Amino acid sequence: MRAVVLVGGFGTRLRPLTNSVPKPLLPVGHVPIIERLIANLVRGGVTDVTLAIGFKPEPFLAAFPDGRCAGATLTYAVEPEPLDTAGAIRFAAIHTGIDSTFVVANGDVLTDLDIAALVAFHRSRKAEVTMHLTPVQDPSAFGVVDRDENGLVSRFIEKPPPGAAPSNLINAGTYVFERSVIDRIPDGRKVSVEREIFPAVVADRGLWALPTQDYWIDAGQPDLYLQANLDVISRRRAAPNWADGVAPDAVLGDDVMLTDSVVARGAVVGDGASVARSVLLDGAFVGAGATVSNSVVMGRIGAGALVTNCVLGADAVIEDGESRCDERIPAPST
Ligand code: GTP
Repeated sequence: MRAVVLVGGFGTRLRPLTNSVPKPLLPVGHVPIIERLIANLVRGGVTDVTLAIGFKPEPFLAAFPDGRCAGATLTYAVEPEPLDTAGAIRFAAIHTGIDSTFVVANGDVLTDLDIAALVAFHRSRKAEVTMHLTPVQDPSAFGVVDRDENGLVSRFIEKPPPGAAPSNLINAGTYVFERSVIDRIPDGRKVSVEREIFPAVVADRGLWALPTQDYWIDAGQPDLYLQANLDVISRRRAAPNWADGVAPDAVLGDDVMLTDSVVARGAVVGDGASVARSVLLDGAFVGAGATVSNSVVMGRIGAGALVTNCVLGADAVIEDGESRCDERIPAPST
């Protein structure tokens, strides 16, 4: 089975991390987001993945030089300009000759969803589109559906006002599409699958939805990117996604205190430093005696510095003894 994965967004919410690494290539538990996502597709029967890219493919080509990722064959569809979600799916499907039922996934989403079960549901309902649903506390920032007991969707509402959503089950960003959906997408302009295409498929009684309780997170904002990392080291996810916090070749000084943290291969932590509930990415340097908590770090933290609730990109420099709390990541509720 083939899949199109959308990776053409700008990743603005994860800046400055995404100034140097495209969002899908940022690691979660030492493995790029896109590789974890594709591994789950492969477990569900996907063999060929087209990455729908809005701009430069070079970092992806460098990351997967043999054209394979997690057991799938990779192809690239590079849009002449970002075409938005439906425009990107259309471009990718036509560009790579997709001619039968295929999976579509939003490149930010990490889930343990059983893709084969979603495809089986799709076939059993003879759906044109099947959407995976997941429960959230506040659905107002997402797409929400009204559906009957068999899963037929009668209404798709993108970002309902608070309190107006018919349920707390949201569009979880993984779909099965029939090839016919492509013919619904106008050519030559930006088109949103959520705003234009799903409502049209609903009107023709072709959209079905399957809720599941599987692990699901949208890793596209700093607190959730941090959480996605913590979830693989705490083994909240299914077993294929477990990881150790510290990469075997990370450089740790003496008497380092590490709690609930991920330390990448290319990170260095000085003597007596303390790191809690944080992700130290490739290139991060934490000076001796520094304290880092609830943060994601690519840059350099001086000796004795105090860094809390921060997102520090590759260019960031925190001076020796400096305190920094940029509130990019909310303090965890106790
Ligand atoms: P932010 O800038 O932080 O909002 O992130 P984003 O640019 O990734 O946007 P968003 O999370 O809303 O996008 C949802 C998914 O669609 C992501 O996987 C994006 O990579 C993808 N996407 C959004 N717009 C485009 C586009 O024009 N082309 C392609 N190929 N993918 C897109």
